[in-house]
Amino acid sequence: MSVLTLEGLTRIHGAGAAEVHALRGISLTVGPGELVAVMGPSGSGKSTLLTLAGGLDEPTAGTVRVEGVDLAGLDGTQRARLRRTSIGYVFQDFNLIPALTAAENVALPRELDGVRRRAARTAALQALAEVGIEHLADRFPDDMSGGQQQRVAIARALVGERRLMLADEPTGALDSESGEEILRLLRSRCDGGAAGVMVTHEARHAAWADRVVFLRDGVVVDESGNASVEGLLGPRHVQ
Ligand SMILES: Nc1ncnc2c1ncn2[C@@H]1O[C@H](COP(=O)(O)OP(=O)(O)OP(=O)(O)O)[C@@H](O)[C@H]1O
Ligand SMILES: [Mg+2]
Repeated sequence: MSVLTLEGLTRIHGAGAAEVHALRGISLTVGPGELVAVMGPSGSGKSTLLTLAGGLDEPTAGTVRVEGVDLAGLDGTQRARLRRTSIGYVFQDFNLIPALTAAENVALPRELDGVRRRAARTAALQALAEVGIEHLADRFPDDMSGGQQQRVAIARALVGERRLMLADEPTGALDSESGEEILRLLRSRCDGGAAGVMVTHEARHAAWADRVVFLRDGVVVDESGNASVEGLLGPRHVQ
């Protein structure tokens, strides 16, 4: 069964003369083990696609299924629970909670799901170690660099057993070496059976993906399998 299925997804913001068609009938299926890169110019609908896939926004038309569950059939509480347990989300602008330390930010989704505080902290420290910043566990977001905050955001998405990873330009604030590390993490999560969708502007980052979907004005204008990704973007990075 696919982990993520998008069918005929349309999202119109505003109304009347102010209507913006952010997405116009997108369909996409991502299976276990697959990492899909989404590319396209600014305003083409990449972030909109991710927020709909993550249940953070509702489509004007079309359906989103995560592990076979139609998000439209869930109430707010059920949807929030599915997000916490199944979906790891890395936002374009981090979305960390400033009043919580790095470890508390990462532990929060687990605690909300009833995991005991100490177990949640252990899981959080492990996720922070995965992204190389365990030593910053007790620091607050405002006292960290952009790149460090980005790693906390990624640790929060990795914590637990989430089956769907959604990342909006996850390497944006990182230098190229750290960026590669993050991509390697996403890749290994997918190799371990998760499904991933990542927005990126960089061709060499997209080369880590199995497929690349190109958006323009809210429609898919091209979709490339791995072979053509390599042809287009050069050989896939090997560690
Ligand atoms: N809340 C909103 N209200 C009105 N219009 C919106 C809203 N969110 C997005 N849009 C519009 O929808 C379109 C798609 O936006 P989106 O953020 O998905 O683009 P993007 O591809 O992620 O761009 P970028 O590369 O700059 O992050 C844009 O025209 C944007 O202005
Ligand atoms: Mg965006």
